[in-house]
Amino acid sequence: MDVLKAIHRAGHSAYLMMEERFNQGFGNAWNPFYHLGSLTFYFFWIVLVSGLYIFIFFETSVGQAYQSVEYITHQQWWLAGVMRSLHRYASDAAVLSIFLHMGREFFRDRYRGVRWFSWFTGVPTLWLTVILGITGYWLVWDQMAQYIALATAELVDWLPIAPGAMTKNFLGDGQLSDRFFTLMAFLHLLAFPVMMVFALWLHVSRISSVDFLPPKGLAVGSLAALTLLSLLKPALSHGPADLQNSPTVLHLDWFYLNIYPLMDKYGPLWAWVIPIGLTLFFMALPWLPPRKEEPEAKVHLPDCNGCGQCAKDCPFGAVSMRPRTDGAKFTFEPVVDPTLCTACGICTGSCVSSNPYRQADGQLSTGIDMPALPVEALRQQVKSLLHGLAGPRKTLLIGCRHGAEAQQLASPEIAVLILPCSGMVPPSFLDFALRQGADGVMTTACRDGDCYYRMGNTVLMERLARQRKPFLLRRTPDERVVMVHASRHDLNDLRQEVDRFRQRLDGLPALAHQAPRGPEIEEEKEEAHA
Ligand code: HEM
Repeated sequence: MDVLKAIHRAGHSAYLMMEERFNQGFGNAWNPFYHLGSLTFYFFWIVLVSGLYIFIFFETSVGQAYQSVEYITHQQWWLAGVMRSLHRYASDAAVLSIFLHMGREFFRDRYRGVRWFSWFTGVPTLWLTVILGITGYWLVWDQMAQYIALATAELVDWLPIAPGAMTKNFLGDGQLSDRFFTLMAFLHLLAFPVMMVFALWLHVSRISSVDFLPPKGLAVGSLAALTLLSLLKPALSHGPADLQNSPTVLHLDWFYLNIYPLMDKYGPLWAWVIPIGLTLFFMALPWLPPRKEEPEAKVHLPDCNGCGQCAKDCPFGAVSMRPRTDGAKFTFEPVVDPTLCTACGICTGSCVSSNPYRQADGQLSTGIDMPALPVEALRQQVKSLLHGLAGPRKTLLIGCRHGAEAQQLASPEIAVLILPCSGMVPPSFLDFALRQGADGVMTTACRDGDCYYRMGNTVLMERLARQRKPFLLRRTPDERVVMVHASRHDLNDLRQEVDRFRQRLDGLPALAHQAPRGPEIEEEKEEAHA
C-alpha cells in the first residue's frame, strides 16, 4: 500500500534526522533513540526504587496520606523529596520514551508480519503505564487527587454496569472512605505493577538478547538529568483535598491526566470512545494491511554440524537447537519456528557451511539457507557481478535493503549486491570475492546501533573483527575488506567512504586473484573447526 509506505518513509526520515543530531551530541553508542526500549525499562527501575523509598514514609489512610506526602516533600526534602520528584519525573520520562519508541517501531515498519507480537502486546503496556500514573496521583490526596477521583467516579459510573457505585464512596461526611483509598493504594503499589511486569515480559518474549538497561553513560546521564530537574523543580502537592469545595487552580500533568480535560469538554461517552477506539486501532495496525513475508529459513541437515551459531545469532529467537534426528554423529540440530522467522538471513551468514569454496563444482548448499536467496544464488551473483567489472580497482559493495540505497553507486568499476540484511554475509564470501576478481570489498549496513533486524550490523562487524564465528578467514587481507554504516539519509557519506576506500586500494600492490591452494584450504578447514 503506497500511502502507508509514504507515511513510513516520511516518519522514518524525521527520526533519522533527529537521530543524526543525537549521534553528533552523544555518539552512536549512547544515542537515546537507539535504546528507547531499554531506556523505558530503566525509567521504570528508577520509579520502582524511588517508589519503595517514599513508601517507607507514606501513610495509606485517607486521613494521613496528605500529611505524610508533605513530610516527604518538605521535611526530608534532601532525600525523600528528591525521591518523590524522581518518581514523578521518571514516570513522565517513561511516557515520553514509550511514545518515541512506539513511533520509531511504527515508522521503521517493524511491527507487521511475524513482528506483530511485540507491537500488539506493547499497546496494553501504554495503558497500564497511564493507569499507574493516575492511581499514583490519587494517593497524594490533594486537590488534584480530588479532581481525579471525582472525574474518574463520573467516568466509571457512566457505564451501565453499576451506576453510582463509585460515587457513593465520596458521599457521607465529606471524606473519601478509607477502604476505597486503601483499594487505590493496593492497585498502585501492587496490582498494576505486577500486571506491568507480566505485560513487559510478554512484550519482549519473542525477541532475543534484550537489554533491560541502557548503556552506562546513558543511564548515568539520564539519572543525573532527572535528579537535577528534581532539585530545581521539586514535585509539589496542591492544597489538601476537601470534598466540600471544588479545587480552583490545577496544574495538570499532561503526560498522564489528559483524559480528564477530554471528559470535561466532551463528556464521559467520548472519554471512553476515544481511548478505546485508539487502542483497538493501534492493536489492529499490524494487519492494516498485513505484510507479506518472505519464506522462513530452511535447515538442511546434511550440511549442518549442529554447532548452534545460527541459534545464538538469531535476533528473534526463531532458531532453537534440538536433539539430532538424522542419525549423524552430531548432538544437536537447528529447528526454525516459522512464526518467529523474519527471513533476515543472519543465520545463513552464521553457518560455517555457507562457504563458497565448498561443493565448488556442484550446487552449493548450506546448513541453514534462505529460500528467497540461497547461498548458491549468492555465489553465482558474486561471480557474475565481478566478471562484469572493468578497471584497476574493481570493488564489490554489499549493502542491505534497509540502509543506504547502495545500488545507486553501481558503476562499471563498482558492483553492488543487496541482501535483506548485511548480517547475512558469510565472511568467507568476502575472501571469495577477492579471488573472483574484486580488488576490494565494502559492506554497508544500517547506522551503527540501529539495525533494522536488531543485530545484523553488530554480528557482521564482530565476524569481520574475528570476534564472532564464523571469523573472517585469516588469509583474507584486512586492508581490502571494510565495513561502513549508512542509513537511507547517508548516501553521500557512503559515496565518500567508497571513494576513500578505492583510493586506498590504489596504494596497495596488485592482487593475484587466485583460487585458494592446498595449504590455504587446509588452514581454512582448521579455522572452521577451531
Ligand atoms: C511500556 C513500556 C515498553 C517497554 C519497556 C518496551 C521495551 C522494549 C524493548 C526493550 C524492546 C526490544 C528492543 C530491541 O532490543 O530491539 C522492545 C521492542 C519493541 N517494542 Fe516495546 N516497550 C514498551 C512499549 C511498547 C509499546 C507501547 C509499543 C507499541 C505499541 C511497543 C512496540 C515494540 C515493538 C514493535 C518492538 C520491536 C520488536 C522487533 O524488533 O520485532 N513497545 N520494546
